[in-house]
Amino acid sequence: MEKSMKEKILFVCLGNICRSPAAEGVMRAMVERAGLEEQFELDSAGTYGGHAGDLPDSRMRSAAKARGYNLTHRARRFREDDYYDFDRIVVMDDRNYEDVSRLAPERKYLQKVYRFVEFCRHHPQWSYVPDPYYEGREGFELVLDLLEDGCKGLMEEVVQSGKN
Ligand code: 4NP
Repeated sequence: MEKSMKEKILFVCLGNICRSPAAEGVMRAMVERAGLEEQFELDSAGTYGGHAGDLPDSRMRSAAKARGYNLTHRARRFREDDYYDFDRIVVMDDRNYEDVSRLAPERKYLQKVYRFVEFCRHHPQWSYVPDPYYEGREGFELVLDLLEDGCKGLMEEVVQSGKN
């Protein structure tokens, strides 16, 4: 079977209601602005399934909306099959990294797992994207700052890798 022309990227956090659906929304907006929507397939998931079916957290939706992002993803749990369905699985923190890694069908699939901050260029002090769930408004703004930085880096890396 011919390899897909699209780069398939799955963003993963714990609940799939704050960080990863926001990453998906930010990335989608950037890709559309660049006219590259034919080259990307984007989704997000959480390692914890307790919020499955929910829209993103209202605090994240309003912080994102203020920056022009409309978040409409419905939460779902990360599953083993995601390793077959995506080219890159991009996690927010070390706990996500461990939880996702544990579900890899074989060792070689771990090559698909990336830490989101690897793609950030302007936040060298952050080795993870912090969970904003128990934070105030600044927590959500920080997450969006990190996501805008890293999504730009990720989009440019995919384009430069010449996948298409
Ligand atoms: P997220 O934030 O992983 O960025 O979606 C969280 C959302 C919900 C919970 C934890 C983190 N929770 O424990 O319900």
